[in-house]
Amino acid sequence: GRKWTEVKDLTEQLKDNTVLIRGRAQAIRAVGKKMAFVVVRERGFTVQCVLTVAQDVVSSQMVKFATSLSRESIVDIEGVVSVPSQPITGASQQVEIQVRKLYCVNRAVPTLPIIIEDAARSEVEIEKALEAGEQLVRVNQDTRLNFRVLDMRTPANQGIFRVQCQVENIFRQFLLAEGFVGIHTPKLIAGSSEGGAAVFRLDYKGTPACLAQSPQLHKQMSICGDFSRVFEIGPVFRAEDSFTHRHLCEFTGLDVEMEIKEHYSEVMDIVDRLFVEMFDSLNEKCAKELEAINTQYPFEKLKYLRKTLRLTFEEGVQMLKEAGIEIDPFGDLNTETERKLGQLVLEKYGTEFYILHRYPLAIRPFYTMPSHDNPKYSNSFDVFIRGEEIISGAQRVHVPEFLTERAQACGIEVKTISTYIDSFRYGAPPHGGFGVGLERVVMLFCALNNIRKTSLFPRDPQRIVP
Ligand code: 4AD
Repeated sequence: GRKWTEVKDLTEQLKDNTVLIRGRAQAIRAVGKKMAFVVVRERGFTVQCVLTVAQDVVSSQMVKFATSLSRESIVDIEGVVSVPSQPITGASQQVEIQVRKLYCVNRAVPTLPIIIEDAARSEVEIEKALEAGEQLVRVNQDTRLNFRVLDMRTPANQGIFRVQCQVENIFRQFLLAEGFVGIHTPKLIAGSSEGGAAVFRLDYKGTPACLAQSPQLHKQMSICGDFSRVFEIGPVFRAEDSFTHRHLCEFTGLDVEMEIKEHYSEVMDIVDRLFVEMFDSLNEKCAKELEAINTQYPFEKLKYLRKTLRLTFEEGVQMLKEAGIEIDPFGDLNTETERKLGQLVLEKYGTEFYILHRYPLAIRPFYTMPSHDNPKYSNSFDVFIRGEEIISGAQRVHVPEFLTERAQACGIEVKTISTYIDSFRYGAPPHGGFGVGLERVVMLFCALNNIRKTSLFPRDPQRIVP
């Protein structure tokens, strides 16, 4: 094969060398009939390529061909690296390529529904451009999602999905080092795993079935199966009705389940260490990606403590009360009160990441262990970033008779989960775990305003394409 150079490697050291590159024609500009500029982008790096009519090298036909290229077409360019006397502004690389050969590998349509440079601008930049009288079409969320393959090409989006990959990576690495084993549980299941209405029902060869709302039942069954500590990264399905900034109908769940020796704080300890390590690592290893996100969607770095703050639900209710907000001490928080509590916590403790535990039992799923000292509460917790929930977790009921009782009390059809309940009849240790929404972690770490920004192809109550 021929020798290819990556755009990111085009530096002054290659001056006068002939190189061959492949990328996308991001911008094309003609200067009269004898000259053209093509900015080529490859994996986020850009280089300016210059075509100048010269005998035996570049014909005027070739210049014409270059200027007829449509934006985002894939091109191969061979040329000589040169160093211009003035700094280059329209490209990341500080060298140019004097083009000798230019091939179009695959054309993009002439009129793109999204212009990448426009889609990459921040709100502030857009306002400025409009004020300056620039012709500019604001790209709305729906257009972006309809043409996601184009939208994906902005530096911010390239950053978001690399950050997401790193969150997953750290989750896995951390848990492997702690003796957890990665598992995969079925997504086609007989009964609902979380209860409630948000379940996709389907026909499984004549038998009613559901898409798993979480790996909850099977991850617990794996603990019964002697794995002690397990994790899973997999799809989660919720037939959500409400169209909100933080609910998807399909998201990626990061799930953990583990034996507990004495107290559910052992599970919170894992959350604490895992997330402090994750945030540290994101700030360190994804600095460039975070910068790219920040350029389009400005945000403040997440404030978190070395040892994660833990408050009880009662303490939370008290803090809200002192701030003049009365809520039912055995009811749930809503989006608004969660946000408010997040603000109060930030003011008082200086952190935007904290754990709220010992929730009222009545608002938790049937499998949640009641508190031994007061069964109105439970051994459960939620975890918040910037006042929004990213995790819920708990100790589970591991005694089959009691589990049956709890399921009935919560209106669950026990026969649909009988194999789950039976798993606890053959020796089951005390255990607990938690579930994290991957898209929410990325959204809130970067203070983005919509979960659709952190899902590559989001599924919401109104969208199942592309
Ligand atoms: O709070 P949830 O429903 O808890 C469970 O699924 C339990 N089985 C977890 C456990 O181990 N006890 O979901 C867990 C997390 C939430 O904190 C949230 O981050 C995310 O999953 N999540 C969603 N993310 C996007 N869209 C939705 N519709 C979500 N519903 C929950």
